[in-house]
Amino acid sequence: MIGILGAGSLGRLWAALLPEDQAAFLPRPDADPAAPPLRYTFESLQGDEINVSRPWLGSAGDVTLLLVTTKAGDTLAALRHWLPRVPEPTPVVLFQNGLGSQQAVAKAWPMRPILAASTTEGANRPTPDHLIHAGTGDTWVGALTRPAESQTCSAVSRLSTTGLAIHTEEQILPRLWQKLVVNAGINPFTAILDCPNGDLLTQNFFLEHIDALCTEIAELMAAEGIERVAPAELRQRIETVARNTARNTSSMRGDILKGRTTEIDFINGYLVQLGQRLGIPTPVNQLLTDKVKQLSPQ
Ligand code: PAF
Repeated sequence: MIGILGAGSLGRLWAALLPEDQAAFLPRPDADPAAPPLRYTFESLQGDEINVSRPWLGSAGDVTLLLVTTKAGDTLAALRHWLPRVPEPTPVVLFQNGLGSQQAVAKAWPMRPILAASTTEGANRPTPDHLIHAGTGDTWVGALTRPAESQTCSAVSRLSTTGLAIHTEEQILPRLWQKLVVNAGINPFTAILDCPNGDLLTQNFFLEHIDALCTEIAELMAAEGIERVAPAELRQRIETVARNTARNTSSMRGDILKGRTTEIDFINGYLVQLGQRLGIPTPVNQLLTDKVKQLSPQ
């Protein structure tokens, strides 16, 4: 059985696309153990609507692959509850945005096979019971701990039963950084300016800060040994994604609009912390983090 921890858009996407008899959700610790299966309508890329029903697992003893699709800030607590109940050899694949939560999990359970995934699949829920697979992309999976190194291929092959494009990734950290750069350059600006991704490109607040932000990120990436890249190249990557997703509401703006805690601590906040550790000033990341925190519940 493939257990899915986190019943948001991404968790529901995997649940809908994996073979029906192989996927089930792990409930929150405080959930009613007799809760009925999770039911929702899944709208495929082609626009077909399918009724999905997946059970909640009462125990995790039969879970042979665990997908963790919780928000970054909820991940450690969710795993502290569930991992003692999951068999030791079960690979755990982390799908969190940003960085920081993945390293924290790998540090807490170094002897477990912990993997991380970076995905560009797009899914959203216009209403709680309706999941739209809005755009397809690629998903890369790679090992974070040593015991996971021999498990990457089998995890990828099980996830490939969805029909999505899943790849093994030897260097998952640089891959997670690629997404972090885009999130750091789009999400806080869209949240602060309350605009869709494409509208950033002409806003003064974005134009005033984007070059300095990219300089900070380029310095951090070089110091971490991730990639030596010119700030202008990072800006181009960020602006390309903003243009390609022009009408989208970023996940951070979506969180603010719904009154939810954002993932800022794992995006620009992570970069601030890293800068402090490395002695690299990050005033723009700090400014964006502070402004987003002022907008969201803590
Ligand atoms: O976080 C998000 O919403 C997305 O990763 C991105 C790329 C900013 C597009 O909306």
